[in-house]
Amino acid sequence: MTTTLRSQAFFNQSGVAGLTHRAFTKAMGFDDQDMARPVIGICNTYSELNHCNRHLRELAEAVKRGVWQAGGFPLEFPTISLGEIYLSPTSMLHRNLAAMDTEEMIRANPIDGVVLLVNCDKTIPAALMGMASADLPAIVVSGGPMLDGEFKGETLGACTDCRRLTADFNAGVLSATDYKSIEDGIVRSAGHCMVMGTASTMNSLCEALGVSLPGNGAIPAADSRRARLAEAAGRRAVALVRDQVRPSQLLTRAAFENAIMLLAALGGSTNAVVHLPAIAGRLGIDLPLELFEQLFRRTPLIANMRPTGKYQMEALNRAGGIPAVLKQLLPLLHGDCLTVTGKTLAENVRHAEIYNPDVIRTLDQPLQPDGGLTILRGNLCPDGAVIKHAATSPHLLRHRGPAIVFKDYDDLMRRLNLPDLPVTPDHVLVLQNVGPVGGLGMPEVGNFPIPTKLLKQGIRDMLRISDARMSGTGVGAVVLHVAPESAVGGTLGLVQDGDEIELDVAAHSLTLHVPDDELARRRANWQAPLPPATRGYMQLYLEHVNQAPLGCDFDFLRGCDPVVITTQPKF
Ligand code: FES
Repeated sequence: MTTTLRSQAFFNQSGVAGLTHRAFTKAMGFDDQDMARPVIGICNTYSELNHCNRHLRELAEAVKRGVWQAGGFPLEFPTISLGEIYLSPTSMLHRNLAAMDTEEMIRANPIDGVVLLVNCDKTIPAALMGMASADLPAIVVSGGPMLDGEFKGETLGACTDCRRLTADFNAGVLSATDYKSIEDGIVRSAGHCMVMGTASTMNSLCEALGVSLPGNGAIPAADSRRARLAEAAGRRAVALVRDQVRPSQLLTRAAFENAIMLLAALGGSTNAVVHLPAIAGRLGIDLPLELFEQLFRRTPLIANMRPTGKYQMEALNRAGGIPAVLKQLLPLLHGDCLTVTGKTLAENVRHAEIYNPDVIRTLDQPLQPDGGLTILRGNLCPDGAVIKHAATSPHLLRHRGPAIVFKDYDDLMRRLNLPDLPVTPDHVLVLQNVGPVGGLGMPEVGNFPIPTKLLKQGIRDMLRISDARMSGTGVGAVVLHVAPESAVGGTLGLVQDGDEIELDVAAHSLTLHVPDDELARRRANWQAPLPPATRGYMQLYLEHVNQAPLGCDFDFLRGCDPVVITTQPKF
């Protein structure tokens, strides 16, 4: 094994380079025996600026135990941590930066294999993208979901209920005292949001992709089984190095198809429709929206999970977890895909069982016959858009109404709640310039609030369309990811007040009822908005970010460049 270890090129080097590599490692208390072992980098997204990942230091210790047990040499290192709650203007702006950091730290250090500790939304795709590009043996360990939230005996979910209860408060049906008290119980432990939001979705999809151990998706953060999973992952990381199993051998087109089908079965986050193409793109695999649509249509929704359904991650774990969901889906999946366990996906879930059939349904008794998401096409979104139809009010699944247009987020905030805004429940609210370029990172503002005056009339949903994203914890008749986005000349930027817009989810269509010659006239007069940034990382982002169907990755980061054995010269 030692002859193939990349780390040996550092530690066995002659001259001053080898001396310094060994001497500075010994300065940390390690010796020659340790340096002869496979080095497992533990890429840790711990941060006190990211609540969801705040317990990852403890998990890193568990991973280290496993690495030592299996004969490896663990070395932990930090990487950029992206917390949804604080990051401004949006964590998505920094996802590619974190992916670059992860890839380059793996590439530049004496690492033979890597365990990636992730949890909050964007830390997961960022790690997967960096891992795929570096293509060293790797395994993903998630921090797990929070415990259920509580308020006056009611189970609460972050942050689906943050929005619902804020709407109730704004409508005057929840008192200020109760609204304040909710803060104390809605987030009870470390971990990521415990509804089937983006973190729950992406951490679950890691099981379908074969890059994490069974159980990774749903074991709660506070559950001791999470630490044991981390310890086992440390042991497996050493085995993956020994067997030279690389991410490119696991992340095949078939594995991505498995992940898309699991996404549909879970009614998971729309954000996965952006992240999966970005990860696949790092391996030269195209995942067109047509593929998503095709797989969504043949995969039933079988997980009864909030925000589309009834239960949260603790209940899903108790009901059998992601292995039980995958076992149900096996007739549809590519069960022969290899995974980090050294076994196939089908072998991994062979003994899984459903312990609560109301949480995890069977294929013949699904919640819906097809998955929770729909890809839309039409003259308003020539390159596609997405809607979570499972979370849309049924009466809005087919809807035609006049547009009220907000030219950007500031305009929305200024006018949405003006008493004289001529808005009715039948209007279609259009928000422009919040895509990857126009919104500087495609913020999660697509599920913007219903105007307060309609809230007070009891209205809780209306059709909203934008080139933004939506939090995976969000709900509503919300058309997202409209491509091309308005800021780069997409039709969305040509919509004007009063234009008729028609959504027909069953027909997968989104239509702007404006004649072609009028659209051509508007296009000739259209002017691109000023770039929202002109220096630094943000300038790099604006110059190189791809549109949503390509995953909003940077154009120069697509493709894989596997790590080779290399060390720097020293004299
Ligand atoms: Fe981290 Fe929701 S804030 S997953």
